[in-house]
Amino acid sequence: MTKIFLPDMEATQQLGITLGETLNAGSVILLEGDLGAGKTTLVQGIGKGLGIIESIVSPTFTLINEYTEGRFPLYHLDLYRLESPEVTGLNLESYWEGIEVTPGIVAIEWAERMPYLPDSYLKICLNYTEDVHRLAEITAVKCQGI
Ligand SMILES: Nc1ncnc2c1ncn2[C@@H]1O[C@H](COP(=O)(O)OP(=O)(O)OP(=O)(O)O)[C@@H](O)[C@H]1O
Ligand SMILES: [Mg+2]
Repeated sequence: MTKIFLPDMEATQQLGITLGETLNAGSVILLEGDLGAGKTTLVQGIGKGLGIIESIVSPTFTLINEYTEGRFPLYHLDLYRLESPEVTGLNLESYWEGIEVTPGIVAIEWAERMPYLPDSYLKICLNYTEDVHRLAEITAVKCQGI
């Protein structure tokens, strides 16, 4: 697990830009952290890193926003308003398996709501308390399979 301090909003965005510039299509980023922790800010950075000019807005009500103008697509999801069974009905795996969907980066806010996970993903937990800088804890998970 890697810890990165995020002293200001620009630091959160820069972390996202680096991810957007370096990750491959098919990458899944699961974002965890309280309301206002900086999840959308990070995804806005990812969009910049991919070369997306269009402004990235929170998909809290739309559930999924797709941006296709960058190096490859960005699929931005926010599961805040859903319960686990409803998430199952979204067929999220079609995004990371690239089935009938152009492979891209899949970034999911409130990933705690997911009842099942992809084989490989980056988990980014954003934490903050009032007196401490915000902190990103990044874990790369890869299931080797059988
Ligand atoms: N590292 C940081 N330091 C200080 N402020 C930050 C930092 N990162 C983001 N912010 C600010 O925190 C506010 C909330 O950020 P953001 O909307 O990205 O959070 P969120 O985790 O997506 O929230 P939600 O759970 O509502 O979706 C914004 O005003 C943003 O500019
Ligand atoms: Mg958000």
